[in-house]
Amino acid sequence: MLENKTAVITGASGGIGLAVLEAYLQNGANCIATDIGPCPDQITTILKQFPERGDYLQADVTNSNHVDKLFSHAASKFTSVDILFNNAAIFDMAPLLESDEAMYDRIFDVNVKGMFFIMQAAARSMVTHSKSGAIINMASQAGRRGEALVSHYCASKAAVISYTQSAAMGLAKHNIRVNAISPGVIDTPMWATVDSLFARYENLQPGEKKHAVGEAVPLGYMGSPKDISGTAVFLASSGASYITGQTLNVDGGNVLS
Ligand SMILES: NC(=O)c1ccc[n+]([C@@H]2O[C@H](COP(=O)([O-])OP(=O)(O)OC[C@H]3O[C@@H](n4cnc5c(N)ncnc54)[C@H](O)[C@@H]3O)[C@@H](O)[C@H]2O)c1
Repeated sequence: MLENKTAVITGASGGIGLAVLEAYLQNGANCIATDIGPCPDQITTILKQFPERGDYLQADVTNSNHVDKLFSHAASKFTSVDILFNNAAIFDMAPLLESDEAMYDRIFDVNVKGMFFIMQAAARSMVTHSKSGAIINMASQAGRRGEALVSHYCASKAAVISYTQSAAMGLAKHNIRVNAISPGVIDTPMWATVDSLFARYENLQPGEKKHAVGEAVPLGYMGSPKDISGTAVFLASSGASYITGQTLNVDGGNVLS
């Protein structure tokens, strides 16, 4: 479905990023995987199954030099970038009266600034080399409404939805589609952080929050990264050629729109 396309996947070492990297490779795309740390064994193993079609580059999405290097590397290795899976993010939370400036800066640096400038760099590369493209930003159900304990993260994901709409309007004339995926609760390493923070602030046992949110999903269970990768492939593919500016809920029915 994605043959002769090149994708850049940020946050590729994480739960959802890893599943999307594998799905894009399985669907024929060339892939540049990137994350803040050195290449983890799981990515090395995946890339070995697709010789010549994948590469890993260590980059911090908040660092503009790293972002420039990432896209010049992608263009030099595979000529063009056609797909961006804009996925890197961090989670933190605290009661509103305790949500300090440092937490705000950390979350907005990665989830908003990093997300925007990665998207801009991808779009510049698409305009120059491919004359078309598909950008998929990772939003969240947290971006659909505020939560007492999660104000900065919720606001950062609301910003992702807004930037997705602005970019879709700004890039339509370049034949670049920009959409977002809004997951509900997906079982990934991020949930270790989420669960322990809720345990602290809501006085819960470890694992209690994770269990409760899974049970509350209308489809009855917490999603897996594979529940997101199908949508990520679809939005990148020609099957989605008339879809832009949308944020798709992929959440087992948590948010109705
Ligand atoms: N898991 C969920 O329930 C859930 C729900 C809604 C939205 N999301 C969103 O889905 C996306 C993927 O989340 P996940 O659950 O796979 O999380 P994860 O923590 O497993 O993966 C996130 C990845 O982003 C990377 N990252 C963080 N800061 C970075 C930086 N400065 N530069 C480069 N990489 C950086 C991390 O190293 C990590 O590998 C995120 O945007 C997240 O907000 C997740």
